[in-house]
Amino acid sequence: MENERLKQFSFFEPIIELIPLVDAKMREQSEGSHEYLQDALNHLLDSGGKRIRSALTLLISSMFKVEKERMITLAAAVEMLHTATLVHDDLIDGSVLRRGNPTLNSKWSPGAAILTGDYLFARAAKLAAETNSLEIMNMFAYKLSIIVNGEVVQLFNKRGRSTMEDYFQKIHAKTASLFELASIAPVYISTKNEEDVRLLGIYGNNIGMAFQIVDDVLDYVGDQAQVGKPIVSDLRQGLVTLPALYYLEENPNDPRFEKFVIEGDEKPKDMDGLIEDILKSGAVEKAIEKAREFTNIGLRALSEFADCPEKEALSELALININRDF
Ligand code: IPE
Ligand code: IPE
Ligand code: MG
Ligand code: MG
Repeated sequence: MENERLKQFSFFEPIIELIPLVDAKMREQSEGSHEYLQDALNHLLDSGGKRIRSALTLLISSMFKVEKERMITLAAAVEMLHTATLVHDDLIDGSVLRRGNPTLNSKWSPGAAILTGDYLFARAAKLAAETNSLEIMNMFAYKLSIIVNGEVVQLFNKRGRSTMEDYFQKIHAKTASLFELASIAPVYISTKNEEDVRLLGIYGNNIGMAFQIVDDVLDYVGDQAQVGKPIVSDLRQGLVTLPALYYLEENPNDPRFEKFVIEGDEKPKDMDGLIEDILKSGAVEKAIEKAREFTNIGLRALSEFADCPEKEALSELALININRDF
């Protein structure tokens, strides 16, 4: 998403002039490397992206008066780590569309996607190291291992019955843990105050949980042009997310789940019927309500901080997150 589109979201206001600097910092990361890597990184960044995680880092860095160059480096590290996970996630999911453009695995090849992902992970680590904080380097390495573990859980638990608790644990690992990192890392290069880390950890984690739930909801009800990636694809791949889990709670013996989700029988006609029934059941509304609950926990933690424009923006970001259609 280009800078012009980002400007429509009021939460970017306090940091809007920093966004192009973070973008430039990310693009620098392919300088001197093979021209394919430059093309790949430019392809990913030109396609847009909401830049939500780097916005969190910039807003909180600004709230904590982190020095400008350091906050840009940290935000670029966070966004780069996120971008790397997307490149590998799309290869794993066999996805052909990301940010409205072809994925690297479909535009080039699976090998190219693996290597680009690896390269971006390496550059994210290098940027994290440039903050000169051992705590931040440690946190990056640790959170990445949590994210990868979450993706592995998802990969091996496809086509199986999983509980609501499994789902929440998984989305914490694959998504909320990075939101948490984006929110607490700035404190490590400023006050290092434990209570600030605790409160921002609660904020980031809960906003991240809500973010993934809304992503899972948009897979059911989103408009592909807005979302920029294939929709109604999770269940077809055997991925049971929150709307399907709420539906299953009310309809535990629906035989189509056994057929499609457990046994992997994909007859499109019945699958369409199942998706329609899930949509009619109120399960999507329940999932959105759950996202709202997580958001409110995050907002309560945020309310402990003194009022400032950044705090206002962080609160708006949390609310836009649960009302978004993109
Ligand atoms: C996609 O994240 C991956 C999830 C955790 C759902 P975003 O929806 O933030 O992706 P971009 O960066 O805006 O493309
Ligand atoms: C992505 O989850 C989580 C990552 C850690 C990359 P999804 O598989 O739901 O993300 P999308 O829908 O492909 O963006
Ligand atoms: Mg995916
Ligand atoms: Mg998704």
